Amino acid sequence: MSTTLTQTIKATPTTAFSRHATLSNEGEDKQGDTEPYRYSHLLPHFSQDHHPALVPFRHIDPGQRALAHSNPRSFLDSAISITQLTPGLGTEVHGVNLAALDSDGRDQVALEVARRGLVVFRGQEEFIDSGPDFYRAWGRHFGRLHIHPTSGHPKGYPEIHLVYRDSNSTFNYEIDDSITTTFWHSDVSYELQPPGLTTFFLLAQPTSGGDTLFTSQVSTLKKLSPQFVTFLRTLKAVHSGLEQADFSRSGRRGGIVRREPVENIHPVVRRHPVTGEEALYVNRQFTRRIVGLKREESENILKFLFDHIDKSADLQARVKWQPNTVVLWDNRVTAHSAIVDYKESKERRHGARITPQAERPIPAGEGLDLGD
Ligand SMILES: [Fe+2]
Repeated sequence: MSTTLTQTIKATPTTAFSRHATLSNEGEDKQGDTEPYRYSHLLPHFSQDHHPALVPFRHIDPGQRALAHSNPRSFLDSAISITQLTPGLGTEVHGVNLAALDSDGRDQVALEVARRGLVVFRGQEEFIDSGPDFYRAWGRHFGRLHIHPTSGHPKGYPEIHLVYRDSNSTFNYEIDDSITTTFWHSDVSYELQPPGLTTFFLLAQPTSGGDTLFTSQVSTLKKLSPQFVTFLRTLKAVHSGLEQADFSRSGRRGGIVRREPVENIHPVVRRHPVTGEEALYVNRQFTRRIVGLKREESENILKFLFDHIDKSADLQARVKWQPNTVVLWDNRVTAHSAIVDYKESKERRHGARITPQAERPIPAGEGLDLGD
């Protein structure tokens, strides 16, 4: 266990909020606020390192271990409130200190997040201030940590994926020629073994805006007719990292491609290894075509599914960030989108993601051949 795990909480939540609000404002920084940015050691860094292709590994899901526990929700015993964000997706928890959870508690977190898709933990100052060595140790409990091929990371910590925007710069994968910043996706779904339990938190945030949208891909699938789902279970689709790499090669986001982009084929309907639930597994950002269909068939089916994901507000949850919030989602059964509605404020938004990879997606359809 990292020594930072035992670090004591130094400020009340009220103090923390004030600090975030002040430091997130670039304008105030320039106007003579001499207090250094508290998380300057975690600002995006773009090393010139080049990494080899990822190799397959055997993933053992931590949520599976929790199934054997007599009460796999005992990590919530200290909670002072547990609130469903929506009936089908998301829970908000106050009173549980993630940084203090032992191995057993972390397994239980993985199972709870798999079941609810998304869990928002408030009051996580100890977690956030425990630093990048702790972030890595936390993430490694849940799987092999993914190193993003193009994003910035804290210097020396390539496993920590950063999002960052301030008054002068953005290092995000933001499409700026669209009428919307809503861009539903499942993180790095182009990898052979995409992420499972994912942890994300903000180090600095705008006073208002910068919320994150989530949707349940279990629910989007359930909305479809049984006949259509039966058809979808027979399909597999290509997920591509090429456009994301081209974005960086065009000089944006730090201009780095540290690992050559890949395309992989995944089932259109995947099964969660622990809950057994089926989830739609296509997303507008990375899914490019359905294998074996004529081009028009593939384009129309994907457009229908993307539109369905886009507009199903009855299946979505919106996370409003507060200082010291840590959000966990299961990337296998949810999709999400950033909301960039705070550009005009010139305020800083600085987030960190810990991204353990999971199993190669399991087809819901019996015998679907994904190739080697
Ligand atoms: Fe994302």
